[in-house]
Amino acid sequence: MNILKEKIHNIIVENGPISIASFMEISLSDKKYGYYRKKMPLGSKGDFVTSPDISQIFGEIIGIWILDIWIKLKEPSNFQIVDLGGGRGTLLKDINRVLKNKISNFIFIDINEELIKLQKKALKGATHFEKIDDIPKKPTIFIGNEFLDTFPVHQFIKKDNYWKEVCVNSNGKELFFSYESSKLSKKIPLGNLINLKEESIIEINFKVKEIINNISYFIKENSGAAIFFDYGYIDGYGDSFQGIKDNKSINPLSDPGFVDLTSHVNFKAIKLQAKENNINVYGPNTQSLFLEEMGAIQRLKILEKNALSHQRKDLRIGLNRLMNEKEMGNLFKVIALSSKNFPSLEGFTCGTTRNKK
Ligand SMILES: C[S@@+](CC[C@H](N)C(=O)[O-])C[C@H]1O[C@@H](n2cnc3c(N)ncnc32)[C@H](O)[C@@H]1O
Repeated sequence: MNILKEKIHNIIVENGPISIASFMEISLSDKKYGYYRKKMPLGSKGDFVTSPDISQIFGEIIGIWILDIWIKLKEPSNFQIVDLGGGRGTLLKDINRVLKNKISNFIFIDINEELIKLQKKALKGATHFEKIDDIPKKPTIFIGNEFLDTFPVHQFIKKDNYWKEVCVNSNGKELFFSYESSKLSKKIPLGNLINLKEESIIEINFKVKEIINNISYFIKENSGAAIFFDYGYIDGYGDSFQGIKDNKSINPLSDPGFVDLTSHVNFKAIKLQAKENNINVYGPNTQSLFLEEMGAIQRLKILEKNALSHQRKDLRIGLNRLMNEKEMGNLFKVIALSSKNFPSLEGFTCGTTRNKK
């Protein structure tokens, strides 16, 4: 049994079943054995590949999105860009190419030492922090691609007209799911149950709520905007907790520390939270619509003109993967937030909600 799995078994034997959120927290962030602490999860040799590494057009389009804001703000020098969970650094590198040194204050926020090394190589001169609280207080654009889905989610199941929390349990050998009456499950209003079938599952991500609150507070104080791309849903509910290893979905309890654990992001909850925080909200939209509206197809045509035939093929395949509705185009959603004093953000004509207060 791997060391982290043994540690989790011992915790459960001593204290009883743990929430899925606690299981995710330990499996992903344990200081020594957590998945995001030690392993090189990204890239063709890692467990999964992300949009910036699939197509350069992804980062270039976000670069254009930022440039538009910066020009509307009359080109301030006191301005920074923060990549939340910067991965291999490809996204900021591609953005930097578009910005051509017009903005050069780049910050990575990350906890994975291997990835931080790659980020340092990808973009010399960028600074590195572990938390949003530590970054300089100035006008900021935050970008988070596949960042929010790494945070621990709680699951609740409808059982005999009550909520039970879906927990991780142990029989000494294997980890398995069990349904428990927990402090949190007792706090969820029973009214939410009325229209749901028996055994329906809902997911609540308190950590994502905290991040949205932190960012809302930061941009209200310092002015700024944020944009998030992720696997996610706008309406509905259900079980989206999954494990990914070698680009395949596997039992999330099978090998803690060696499996990436994610859940789909609830974009409606983010929108409601941002509105409650009295900041502007754009979207959510599908990734496909956002990229189309921001000119990704025109950018492809320009790149194709100067490319060799095999490069043209790769460019097309890459963008198709990001935009095709059967691939990432629909599955991935995008939402943007901004402070009241910020200019309007592009890419959200379809599905824009500006907060009027
Ligand atoms: C799925 S990867 C996405 C990487 C990158 N945004 C991309 O698109 O390629 C998640 C990233 O978030 C980082 N990360 C995970 N948990 C984090 C945390 N608690 N604080 C900061 N970064 C974290 C990981 O190390 C990794 O760089």
